[in-house]
Amino acid sequence: MITEYAALNEENPDPEVIQRAGKIIREGGLVAFPTETVYGLGGDALNPESSKKIYAAKGRPSDNPLIVHICRLSDLDAIVKEVPPQTGKLAELFWPGPLTMIFPKSELVPRETTGGLDTVAVRFPSNRIAQALIDASGGYIAAPSANRSGRPSPTLARYCMEDLDGRVEMVIDGGQVGIGLESTIIDLTEGRPTILRPGFITQKMLEEVLGDVEVDRALIEPDSGKAPKAPGMKYKHYAPRGELVIVEGKCDRVVAGINEAVREKRARGMKTGVICTDETKAMYDADSVKSTGSRCDEQSTAKELFRILREFDDEQVEYIYSESFSDGDLGQAIMNRLMKAAGHRVADLDQGERLL
Ligand code: TXA
Ligand code: MG
Repeated sequence: MITEYAALNEENPDPEVIQRAGKIIREGGLVAFPTETVYGLGGDALNPESSKKIYAAKGRPSDNPLIVHICRLSDLDAIVKEVPPQTGKLAELFWPGPLTMIFPKSELVPRETTGGLDTVAVRFPSNRIAQALIDASGGYIAAPSANRSGRPSPTLARYCMEDLDGRVEMVIDGGQVGIGLESTIIDLTEGRPTILRPGFITQKMLEEVLGDVEVDRALIEPDSGKAPKAPGMKYKHYAPRGELVIVEGKCDRVVAGINEAVREKRARGMKTGVICTDETKAMYDADSVKSTGSRCDEQSTAKELFRILREFDDEQVEYIYSESFSDGDLGQAIMNRLMKAAGHRVADLDQGERLL
């Protein structure tokens, strides 16, 4: 298959390209497109064959459900059986935007789309290209992140091409995404509202509306043996090809510890990389030192993280050491992704743990 590549301006997306892309999806094909979080790999959410194609193109296990994207609140009713009472308030505050809500699904949504579940995850993205495409595609696009399974989610169209060229009909380039981490997923269907995946909409923001909000324990305690409630969270994810370790502790100790590890790896002929911030960048002497931006700017960390992980792969870096980013409001979301990428390898130098 030849993949068509089209660049669009979010302020004024070319209607002709949008119509062509919409037709591809209505006819059962796949289009990668920008959203405000990460690029999505879109197919017709109501067509079981499209969902099967999405799993095949990504190389994704088919028990891992897809998020259904809508472009009008009024389109929600047709795909859900029941709307939990707090939905209206959340939609008013956070839709369109980076929040996904779980609902009991209606008959209209095929089980191929929901990975066999009776529930459906729904999101109303704010990106204008995404909205126009959803509209042109019939109103319901199933879209996981547009990466091959296991790789970091794409924040630029060129990464969609890298992973999916020849596997999808079209890739729409809308520039670098604004947020860079996938949407927050909240489940309101059973008991207390529960965050199944942390994201840009934080626990604190949700608690201001809902009162107490839980975080799926399996996300916080990966060793608990419990399966995460969002099936996709159990899979290995985001992992760069090199070995990644998160290094915690006082700043000077982290810098010294990483530099010592870098020297040791270099002596053995290994290529090393560091993920850090503008404040510390000059202090590291690894082969490739990448800053996420200022330590004070956690939105920049969120936006740059997946790109940096992919760049280390391009540069064939073998050992990667990352500073920790747990402090700010987005700490939960950023560390969730970073910990998965690191296979939960953390060295706390303040606790006397060693890097070598
Ligand atoms: O920001 C995003 O959400 C992006 C963009 C493209 O919209 N999409 C995205 O999709 O991240 P994906 O497929 O990479 O991640 C969807 C996550 C998976 O962990 C999946 O298991 C979970 O959502 N999920 C989907 N439907 C679910 C359901 N009915 N119940 C529980 N978890 C669900
Ligand atoms: Mg994904």
